[in-house]
Amino acid sequence: MSRAHILGVGHYVPTKVVTNDDLAKIMPTTHEWIEQRSGIRERRFIEESGIGASDLAVPASKMALERAGLTEKDVDAIIFATLSPDVNFPGSGCYLGHKLGLPGVPALDVRNQCSGFLYGLSIADAWVRAGVYENILLVGSEVHSTGVEFTERGRAVAVLFGDGAGAAVIGRAKDDGKGIHTCRLHADGAGAEELWLPAPASRNIPRLTPEMMEQGLHYPQMNGKAVFRAAVENMTAVSRKVLEDAGLEMKDVDLFVPHQANKRINQFVAAALDLPDDKVVHNIERYGNTTAATIPIGLSESFAEGRLNDATVLMAAFGSGFTWAGAVVKF
Ligand SMILES: CC(C)(COP(=O)(O)OP(=O)(O)OC[C@H]1O[C@@H](n2cnc3c(N)ncnc32)[C@H](O)[C@@H]1OP(=O)(O)O)[C@@H](O)C(=O)NCCC(=O)NCCS
Repeated sequence: MSRAHILGVGHYVPTKVVTNDDLAKIMPTTHEWIEQRSGIRERRFIEESGIGASDLAVPASKMALERAGLTEKDVDAIIFATLSPDVNFPGSGCYLGHKLGLPGVPALDVRNQCSGFLYGLSIADAWVRAGVYENILLVGSEVHSTGVEFTERGRAVAVLFGDGAGAAVIGRAKDDGKGIHTCRLHADGAGAEELWLPAPASRNIPRLTPEMMEQGLHYPQMNGKAVFRAAVENMTAVSRKVLEDAGLEMKDVDLFVPHQANKRINQFVAAALDLPDDKVVHNIERYGNTTAATIPIGLSESFAEGRLNDATVLMAAFGSGFTWAGAVVKF
C-alpha cells in the first residue's frame, strides 16, 4: 500500500502581539517569571471580537494548498483539530468548509487538545492509504485569548496560551520513500482532570451557574507540575517508539518538531533523546502555546526556512486528556 504524505503546510497568526510586559499591566505577573519558566516572550491574540478558530484557519489553509500546488476544489475532506471551536457546536470544520466554498465536503472536528494535530494526521494517513479520500485538509487552530482568566487566580494558565492556526494537506506520496512513515496515538483519562475545563458541563444540572462562574470553573484548570512531568515522560517515550516503528535511530532525525507547551519541557525531552538544540524547532517564545496549532505552525515555518528539504522529521505532542502522540515523516 502506498504511503500518504504531507504535500503542503501553512500557518496564520493574528496581527495583535501581546508581550509579557503587556500582560503584567493587567494582572500580577512579570516578564521574568513567564520567560524563565516557559520561554514565552510574546503571543498573538485576535484583534477583535468575532474572529473564530475557523477564521484563522482560512489563510493557513490557503497557504498550505498553494504550497501543495492545489486549490480548494481539490479538497475531499477536512479534519479540524481544536479545543476552542468557534462555538460549542457545530464543529469548526463545517464553518471552515463553508468559508472555503466547499459545500458537501465532509468535515470532522478532532477534540484531542494539544495532540489534536497528530491525531488528525493519523486519521488522514489512514484515509489516504485506504483510498477513502485523495486530498485532506488537516487544520489545527485555536482562539485561547477569549477563554483564559487575566487575574491572579488564572495567571498560571493565562500567560501560557496564544491564538493561531496551522494547516497541512495530506495526499498520496510518490513512491520514493518519502511520506508519513509512522504515527502512534495514546490517551489516559486518569489524567483528565489535571488539565481541563470543568464548566459548562452537560453532566451538570444546570450546566453553568453563577456560583461556578464565581469559582472560575469556566476557565481552564491545570495542575502545572503534574502536566509538566507527564509531558516530558510521554513525549520522550513516544518519540523513541515511533522511530523504532519506522526502523530509524535518533541520529537519523534531521528535525524535531515538538508541541510547544513550554520550552523547558522540550529541552528536557530533547536532552533525554540526545537531540542537539539545532535540530529542535522552538517558536513558543513568539506564539505561546497554540495547542492543536503548534506543530503545523512549526512545520510551516520550518518549510519557509528550507528545513524540511529531504528531512526526516520527528513530531511529538502531549496535552489534556491526557493524550499524547508521535509521528515520523520523511519530506
Ligand atoms: C505553569 C508552569 C509554568 C508553572 O511553573 P512551576 O515551576 O510549576 O511554578 P512555580 O512552582 O515555580 O511557581 C508557582 C508560584 O508562582 C505563582 N505564579 C503562577 N503563575 C504566575 C504568573 N503568571 N506570574 C507570576 N507568578 C505566578 C504561583 O502563584 C505560585 O506562587 P506561590 O509559590 O507563592 O504559591 C509549569 O508548571 C508548566 O509549564 N507546566 C506545564 C504546563 C503545560 O505545559 N500546559 C499545557 C500542556 S499541553
